[in-house]
Amino acid sequence: MKSSVGHFFLLVLFLTGCSSAPPSGGSASEPSSTADGDVDDHARALLREGRRVFRYDTFGSEAFWGGQLRLHEAIAGAKQGGVGPGLSARQALQLGLKVDAAALPAALVEMIKKGTVSLDNPETTVALLKANAVVGVTGVFQEGTSRMTAVGIQCALCHSTVDDSLTKGIGRRRDGWPNRDLNVGEIVAFAPTLKPFADLLRVDEATVRTVLKSWGPGKYDAELSQDGKAMRPDGRSGATLLPAAFGLAGVNLHTYAGWGSVTYWNAYVAITQMHGKGTFFDPRLNNPEQFPVAARAGHANIRNTPDLVTPKLAALHYYQLSLPAPRPPRDSYNAAAAERGRGVFEGKARCASCHVPPLFTEPGWPMHTAAEIGIDDFQASRSPDRRFYRTTPLRGLFTRSQGGFYHDGRFPTLDAVVAHYNGVFRLGLSGTESTDLVEYLKSL
Ligand code: HEC
Ligand code: HEC
Repeated sequence: MKSSVGHFFLLVLFLTGCSSAPPSGGSASEPSSTADGDVDDHARALLREGRRVFRYDTFGSEAFWGGQLRLHEAIAGAKQGGVGPGLSARQALQLGLKVDAAALPAALVEMIKKGTVSLDNPETTVALLKANAVVGVTGVFQEGTSRMTAVGIQCALCHSTVDDSLTKGIGRRRDGWPNRDLNVGEIVAFAPTLKPFADLLRVDEATVRTVLKSWGPGKYDAELSQDGKAMRPDGRSGATLLPAAFGLAGVNLHTYAGWGSVTYWNAYVAITQMHGKGTFFDPRLNNPEQFPVAARAGHANIRNTPDLVTPKLAALHYYQLSLPAPRPPRDSYNAAAAERGRGVFEGKARCASCHVPPLFTEPGWPMHTAAEIGIDDFQASRSPDRRFYRTTPLRGLFTRSQGGFYHDGRFPTLDAVVAHYNGVFRLGLSGTESTDLVEYLKSL
């Protein structure tokens, strides 16, 4: 009785509160509407700043890629003050580098359309860098000249691509789409010296080069510089596929083996992989047995002044969480089969028990042992908790069909993924059920 009186009283307060508030303006509603406006402004500002950071911020990494590896010298070539033949624009595109058409001067766009620009010399590459048109790579130039003094890298290098609207490799940016054409290893191996990596890993430069060239397109090894494990026990490369950086809002843990949250990983990558200047703290890396390289190099606690990363993490985090998973083109799957496949996914095949719609990962702690999904534990064992793979959010699968599926691309097609589950879980799916399920996956 007492509590229902209390509820009644609250209800009256609530109703009078609502009805007495003027629809807009007026002193009663001012404080709250001002606050909402502040939040909206804050959200817009974070989004803008986060996009800028994701696309254009090098975090001071040019001190490493330029200052130490001298990558810019190999790109420019001897004739432009660097070393060797240089990197032609055609080679750059073949290595999977992308060009942002919006950053190109109109005259150059016309020349590309007419095919009158030569892609076969490094001068064009340097011109593209000077226009700040190469996605994820920024050239630093001597004031008022075309002389490049360094290059730095951005998140967009690996996590953006373009829509090829001008020509293959040149178009509008698509942030969050993994660049599965990009051959990170070949690009790094192009540097005149790899001594910083050789010193860190305590191997010779030739070995570093061999490892870099073992990755192949669409792959990178973000843990090698901590554990020194370049190869799996079976002798294959330890690199993983570049994952999507879209559709991550609502997902608890990130990376294939769940190292941490988006913002954890952003600091990790910016400092320990991109060699940006800032602060990174993770005492889990101070384990000489699991992370011998990190332990001796002090990667568990990195401090740089000035800190060019920490002030950007909030906006960068917000931007990634704002990136929606893209929808597949209507004609890229069979809608009727996909609808039947949804029934298989949620029913007989039990996929939805882990890939819970609409997130397609588990709300909560989305981690599973290697045995649970029927694969080896190599990559899982490289993460701080050593045991788990994270249930991959499945939206936008069509953007990452190149390079295969699962963390290392071991399944070349979605049919192979479904066949794997059909065997491991003894699902007894018929041929039609399997193909319907694949159509459903393609529709996500
Ligand atoms: C050289 C390529 C490269 C660069 C540059 C790079 N990443 Fe990544 N990123 C990767 C790879 C590879 C992984 C997967 C690592 C793993 O699972 O072990 C990854 C994982 C991620 C993930 C986790 C996605 C998920 O849920 O699984 C996010 C988010 C991310 N990167 C954001 C960023 C941001 C932000 C930056 C810039 C600060 C950045 N990355 C720079 C290659 C790169
Ligand atoms: C026990 C939990 C679990 C179940 C059940 C499950 N998955 Fe997965 N799924 C995972 C995990 C964990 C991964 C990440 C594996 C990796 O990257 O090595 C994954 C990865 C995938 C991928 C690869 C995504 C990518 O981008 O590489 C696809 C596709 C997929 N699952 C589809 C399915 C389908 C279809 C079913 C039902 C037949 C299913 N899964 C059932 C946990 C599960």
